[in-house]
Parts: sequence; C-alpha cells; structure tokens
Amino acid sequence: MAKRVKVLTGVKPTGTPHVGNYFGALKPALAIQDNHELYLFIANLHALNTVPDSKQLSEYTYKVAAVYLSLGLDPKKTVFWRQSDVTEVLELMWYMTPFAPMGLLTRAHSYKDAKDKGKDINMGLFNYPLLMAADILLFSTDQVPVGQDQKQHCEIARDIAIRFNNQYGDILTIPEPVISEQTAIVPGIDGRKMSKSYNNEIPIFESSKNLRKCIMKIVTDSKELDEPKDPNDSIIIDLYKLIASKEEVADLSQKYRQGGYGYGHAKQDLFLALEGFFGKSRQEYFRLINDKAYIDKILLDGARRARDKCGNLMEKVRQVVGIK
Ligand code: ADP
Ligand code: TRP
Repeated sequence: MAKRVKVLTGVKPTGTPHVGNYFGALKPALAIQDNHELYLFIANLHALNTVPDSKQLSEYTYKVAAVYLSLGLDPKKTVFWRQSDVTEVLELMWYMTPFAPMGLLTRAHSYKDAKDKGKDINMGLFNYPLLMAADILLFSTDQVPVGQDQKQHCEIARDIAIRFNNQYGDILTIPEPVISEQTAIVPGIDGRKMSKSYNNEIPIFESSKNLRKCIMKIVTDSKELDEPKDPNDSIIIDLYKLIASKEEVADLSQKYRQGGYGYGHAKQDLFLALEGFFGKSRQEYFRLINDKAYIDKILLDGARRARDKCGNLMEKVRQVVGIK
C-alpha cells in the first residue's frame, strides 16, 4: 500500500467558530480525512497568549472540538487532540532552540506587527513560531495546509528542521506548506473579512432566533424593495454562494435584477439556506457541548494516539542530541 501523505494542522481556540472558519479551515480539512493521514489539534497552548481567562480558554477549546466533531470530523480516521495533552511538543520545542536564531524569529510577521504597533512583547509571542515548528516536526509532517498568513511560520519550521538535520543527520521531515489560495475569503456582516477581530462574524451554531437576528444585520445599500439591485455587489449573495447550488444563486440573482424583491427577503432566503446547511448538525453540536466528559474522552484518546505516533521520533531526537 502506498504511504499516505501526512498532513497536520492546528486550530487556535480563541473564540466561537464562525462561518469563515468553516469554509476557510474546517471544510478543507474534512475533505482530506479519507485519503490522507490527518493530524488535527486544538492549539490551546498557542491561545494562552491571547486568552488569559482560564474558563474562557477551556470553553473555547470545547467549542472548537464540538464544532469539528458535529460537522463531520471522524476521530477514528483523524488523529484529533488538545495540544496541551501531548507535552512532548514542549520538549521538542526546547531541542529546537539551538537551531532557531534570534534573527530568524525577529523576522516573523507576528513579532514584527506587534513591535510596529508598539505592543508589549512577551516570550509567548516571540516563541510562537518555535512552538508551531515543534507542532509540525513532532509528527514528521509532509504537508501543512495553511492560509497565506501562516506561510512564513511554516518556512521557519522548515528552516529549523534543516539546521537540526545538518547537525544530527536526517532525523526531521522537512514539511511543505500548502497554501490554499483558492479558498475564498468569507465576508462578515459588514463586508470586511469575517473575523473575530472585527466583530462581524456569523457563528456556525446559534439558535435560529439569534442566527436570524445576525443575518438581518448584514449591511446593504438603501435601495427600496421595488428597485432592481446588483447581485455582484451584495454581501448576502456572496454568503449565499457558499452554500447554495448554482441554480439557486442564479435564481436569487435574477430576483435582484428584476426588482420587487427587497434585501429583507434576500436575508430571509440566506437565513433559510444557512439553517438548511448547518441546522442538521446543530442538535449534535449542542449534545456534544453539554457532554464535556465525552469530548474529553475523544480528545484524550486522540492524544494517546498522537503520543504513540510521535514516540519513535522523540526517542531518536533524544538520542542524537545526547540526552539519552
Ligand atoms: P479570526 O480571523 O476570526 O480570528 P482565525 O485567525 O482564528 O480567525 O482563523 C482560523 C482559521 O479560519 C484560519 O485557517 C483562517 O484562514 C480561517 N479563516 C478565518 N476567517 C476566515 C474568512 N473570513 N474566510 C476564510 N477563511 C477564514
Ligand atoms: N498558527 C496557526 C494559526 O494561527 C495555528 C497553528 C498552531 C498551526 N500550530 C500549527 C497551524 C501547526 C498549522 C500547523 O491559525
């Protein structure tokens, strides 16, 4: 049997997952779980720096797990765990430090941005790419699917791995970032990129009432019900496109052009489409989020498998560096 490509990605539990996260990160991950060896973890150690409230961090972690599981992540196929449950990553990170020159880390965008904005910089932020490198290298990952913003972090991981191998031999797999450029940027209710930082998200799982309220807040121009409207300049249609068939989009566009169809109607149609798309999984989401013991069981089982998978590499690394 041909060796399956090892793909790894992490998701930070820094908020309630939104529709942009689904189309940008979750859906592409689910699409490959059948024919790749997929490693997916909840990066709670990475989130410590931005979510200092312990209760909130724990709650976001469960939310991410429940969202992924209810929308189709199969923990039998995919190794799915909470980053902090596999402490080997912290050990490996330390072995990487001699191969992570300050110069390399000071060039990281995350660090440079914070510095340019005059923010206080702590070692958590500075070492972010180093922990991410350990995440990736620990599982001899072949490919890391990431958005453009994370490409540089993957390159830092490659760089560190190459330096380590130059010293100790061919131990670490050099990972390839796979940039999902064709993934559309999902707009938020104000038309900017949907993001927690802009407070413009549509959450994936909300009560019907709250979801409807959120959809009704989508920004439109002030055209009256009777007037024809431009389907190519509409946040509502851009969102509708993500979940509706070509025919349904054509149909909605036609209604826009002919007039007599208001934005309120369009929002109602979008609401119904979103309900149809995510509504089926909502019950499962709420079942899971109310059964944290079950989520823990899944994640701990995933952590056990993850530890199994990285055990040999850790042994090798300890040996070559002379710790054992
Ligand atoms: P946020 O901007 O809300 O803080 P994150 O940075 O935590 O979102 O993103 C987590 C994942 O979801 C990343 O892989 C990112 O590329 C993807 N993602 C986030 N927002 C969008 C969006 N509006 N459109 C497409 N993908 C997105
Ligand atoms: N840094 C990634 C983000 O902000 C999350 C992440 C942490 C990650 N470790 C990773 C992604 C390893 C891919 C591989 O979205």
